Amino acid sequence: MTEKTYRIDIEGGAAVRARPGDTLLEVAAEAGLEVSADCGGAGTCGKCRARAGGLLEPPSDAERKLLSAREIESGVRLACQARISGDAGAVFEGNAVSSEITDFCMEYEPPDSGRGHAPDSERGFGLAIDIGTTTLNARLVDLETGRAAASAASANPQRIYGADVASRLSFAVSGGLGALRSGLRRRVSRMVEWLAERGGVEAGAAKRSIVVGNPTMLSVFFGYDPSGIGAAPFTPPFTGTAAALARELGIPAAEGAVAETLPVVAGYVGADAVSAALRAGLHRPGGPRLMIDLGTNAEMVLAAGGEIWACAAAAGPAFEGAHISCGSTAREGAVDTVMLSEDGTLAVGTIGGAAPEGLCGTGLIDALAVLLDSGALAASGRLTAPEDGPIADRLSGGDLGSQPEFHIVRPGEMGARRPVSITQQDIREAQLAKGAILAGAETLMAAAGVDAASLEAVYLAGALGYSLNSKSAIRIGLLPGARPEIVKFIGNAALDGAADALVSAKAREDARLLGDSIRYFELSSAPGFADRFAAAMAFPANLH
Ligand code: FES
Repeated sequence: MTEKTYRIDIEGGAAVRARPGDTLLEVAAEAGLEVSADCGGAGTCGKCRARAGGLLEPPSDAERKLLSAREIESGVRLACQARISGDAGAVFEGNAVSSEITDFCMEYEPPDSGRGHAPDSERGFGLAIDIGTTTLNARLVDLETGRAAASAASANPQRIYGADVASRLSFAVSGGLGALRSGLRRRVSRMVEWLAERGGVEAGAAKRSIVVGNPTMLSVFFGYDPSGIGAAPFTPPFTGTAAALARELGIPAAEGAVAETLPVVAGYVGADAVSAALRAGLHRPGGPRLMIDLGTNAEMVLAAGGEIWACAAAAGPAFEGAHISCGSTAREGAVDTVMLSEDGTLAVGTIGGAAPEGLCGTGLIDALAVLLDSGALAASGRLTAPEDGPIADRLSGGDLGSQPEFHIVRPGEMGARRPVSITQQDIREAQLAKGAILAGAETLMAAAGVDAASLEAVYLAGALGYSLNSKSAIRIGLLPGARPEIVKFIGNAALDGAADALVSAKAREDARLLGDSIRYFELSSAPGFADRFAAAMAFPANLH
């Protein structure tokens, strides 16, 4: 007898069939949506709220604890708790992202002889894949020229099990490793098929793949158990490189084609950091240079005095749009530019010029800089609502217990359907992220005996890409050195470094040597880190 299923309509996703007892969170994933679920479905974070209708089991104890009686009465549910008992529907408001695959259009400079990694002129195609905690990127590369035939981006489907590495690890340890692995492999497989179609290449033609990512993501993808990374001494299941037949990992590829990683250095310094450092040229001689890969976990690699050091700071996903009330990844419609124009009005830009639909990391950093410059944000991070000044009419709350908010876009402006705002809580999240990054960089430099004033370059890699305004980054105190002229944006350098290693044996060898020579520095037990972190949460003092 076939099991009874019900029709579930999720706004923004496909209509799907679900079995009795399935949660709305699982059904939303099936419908092509990833829902914020920072606690991994434990019913403790309240992030997976949805407005639901139709037949669902009654609210659980966790829902009664986290939702008000009024919310429950009006149909608000926690998607991880609400279980299907008949036909139903749900709407997620700003806390779900589509699992669609999109063109990844960040600038890319193919490897050339100037970089010392000219392609080896092998005919055919290969794949460079970057498995980020929040976002997946992949590129189909012509092995002969190093040029990209197509590039793709998609959300990491594991996001429904938690926003950061720590929550994924605890989900894996509590029996979720299989779900983490299968969802990730399925998504990568779909991305590769999408790339083949876009690039006009037969699916399954790839002759080689280079995969980078942090040690947890790579362990999950390559079939290792990452649980040792979750607790001190944070031991990854492998260091150096791992390899497997691409097809065994679910990657559509030529028969016998191998997928391999670049070197993993330690539990929180992975192949993505090595790849980005390779792309930044830290393996070459030079003065003191710092590379920061701004992801959910911010890896930092410092080359100085003939040595290379690395550490990782748990920045959290705030600059990738998670844990932020109107947060968004860098996709069309995300507010990515916020400035005060000369006439005192607020100038706002969005990716693709589309109607505003959320705030991505660069927009958040810009908005904080505007608040600091206008005097509405104190060095402590406290948001106030001044009675006059250029943005006074965009600040609200702060009295009678309501949260102060800065309304970057109001409904109707620029075609926005919903406001795009930042709250006091968002500012706290950004302070934690920027505090971790700055304190990590300062502690690493202190250990290596490097003074910030002597830095020749600070390379910024990662999701913030090329679009980050270096003045805003310095204004909020994100970077050491505070000199815009030494800040260089190198885009998604982890993916670009993987593409270099894909086409050039010399790049692979340089990556191996880089991995071998990096000295890992554990931040959590480093003297002075906690004090620096506390100090680095403050913003540089107002100039007004
Ligand atoms: S309450 Fe955290 S995922 Fe549902």
